[in-house]
Amino acid sequence: MIVYFNGQYLEKSAVRISPDDRGFLFADGLYDVVRSYRGHLFRCSDHLERLAFGLGELRIQDFDPSAIEDIAPRLLEANGMSNAEAAIYMQVTRGVAPRSHKFPPAGTPPTVYVEAKPFSPPFAIRQAGANAMIIADQRWQRCDLKTTGLLANILAHQQAVDAGAFEAIFSRDGILLEGSHSSMVFVKDGVLTCPQLNQHILPGVTRKVVLSLAAAASIPNECRPCLEKELPDFEEVLMLGTTVEIVPIVAVNGRRIGTGEPGPIARRLQQAFGEVVKSLSVEAKLPA
Ligand code: PDD
Repeated sequence: MIVYFNGQYLEKSAVRISPDDRGFLFADGLYDVVRSYRGHLFRCSDHLERLAFGLGELRIQDFDPSAIEDIAPRLLEANGMSNAEAAIYMQVTRGVAPRSHKFPPAGTPPTVYVEAKPFSPPFAIRQAGANAMIIADQRWQRCDLKTTGLLANILAHQQAVDAGAFEAIFSRDGILLEGSHSSMVFVKDGVLTCPQLNQHILPGVTRKVVLSLAAAASIPNECRPCLEKELPDFEEVLMLGTTVEIVPIVAVNGRRIGTGEPGPIARRLQQAFGEVVKSLSVEAKLPA
């Protein structure tokens, strides 16, 4: 596999990352994931805007995320994936410097790594739905940043998996926030109800797409605190993310959501999402 590392395209096995890299030492860095549908990067500018915001907040300089718009197609091409289902993973750290809590000297170049991975969409789970488990949120207060520091997410996810669930749902002070690696939205009284964006939640790109699809389909929607105690009243729960797209959550903590089957709003939004994706490939087939 050919990957991008600090300005070069090389075999993944040839990448050498220093033990002094601040990503390795401190998780002092950010990442993002963009889907490629047959060579089309989906909502790439939204992902890069989020990365640019994160870099600004972390004060990591000297990397312009718009470079990814050039790097990603090259990686797809170099790996024979220009026409395939793929996911682009990118990571930027504060670079290499002797271990110290203070920032390295100005001018220390960030470490930039990008790869294009073959991707198998989780069709079966999108169709059948999945179960989730509520877990107390032990993350920090800047969950709006997509940092590589994901230990609390990993522990929560594994706790859910060990209990036979597909995803964890973080709850903080009785408020449902998001999944361990996904956004969560809820349906109550026919209204698509989304946790508000704040520092406890990642501004998900899929969530933004789904909200605009809901508006276009005249599905009533609102953003407000979603309470754990409302769970029995939710008719549907939807897990959203770049790789999963839209997965109906049909049970939480072993208790059925709605009928225990994927609900009508999940199905309408999946259909609308599928049409957006299909239109990407139709455009590709239009003559230049
Ligand atoms: N995860 N919330 C969290 C905590 C996430 O990690 C993710 C994505 C999302 C959904 O964001 P988006 O729709 O922009 O993918 C929400 C990525 C895909 C991951 O960790 O692999």
